[in-house]
Amino acid sequence: MLWLLSLQVLIYEFGLVSATLQNITIGYLTVDKTDTFVRDRQGRVISGAISYAVEKINENPDILPDYHINIIWNDTKASTLVGIQCLTEQWKLGAVAFFGFEDSCSVEARVAAAWNLPLISYFFNFYF
Ligand SMILES: *[C@@H]1O[C@H](CO)[C@@H](O)[C@H](O)[C@H]1NC(C)=O
Ligand SMILES: *[C@@H]1O[C@H](CO)[C@@H](O)[C@H](O)[C@H]1NC(C)=O
Repeated sequence: MLWLLSLQVLIYEFGLVSATLQNITIGYLTVDKTDTFVRDRQGRVISGAISYAVEKINENPDILPDYHINIIWNDTKASTLVGIQCLTEQWKLGAVAFFGFEDSCSVEARVAAAWNLPLISYFFNFYF
């Protein structure tokens, strides 16, 4: 029993658990604020779902054992140039998959495709 307790102390006190977990960084690209009017901004409504999902995956070791998901996000402001900046910045920070975009993403998707990086949009906008 004591060795088990010691193991727990070692693991939790000295952070051995997080040291053995491999981090996967994912990028989330959404629209929060915009300079001009944009209809149906979903980022404001649904963004809680991705952080909730990541939290659930991280706290249940049966889902993705040995991995810890880090999420980084940016507000693209529904602008292609800002969107490309956000995507490439997240990529430089180590993101290996992207969830977004919410507005049009033909250019951003090609940037991701050029490096064979998955980009999954959560939204289809009928107005574009
Ligand atoms: C994973 O990221 C956390 C911070 O989010 C860091 O403390 C930890 O050292 C990282 N682990 C590895 C194996 O890179
Ligand atoms: C992306 O988000 C980070 C963290 O909030 C911020 O520092 C950075 O300026 C943002 N990048 C862009 C291009 O908006």
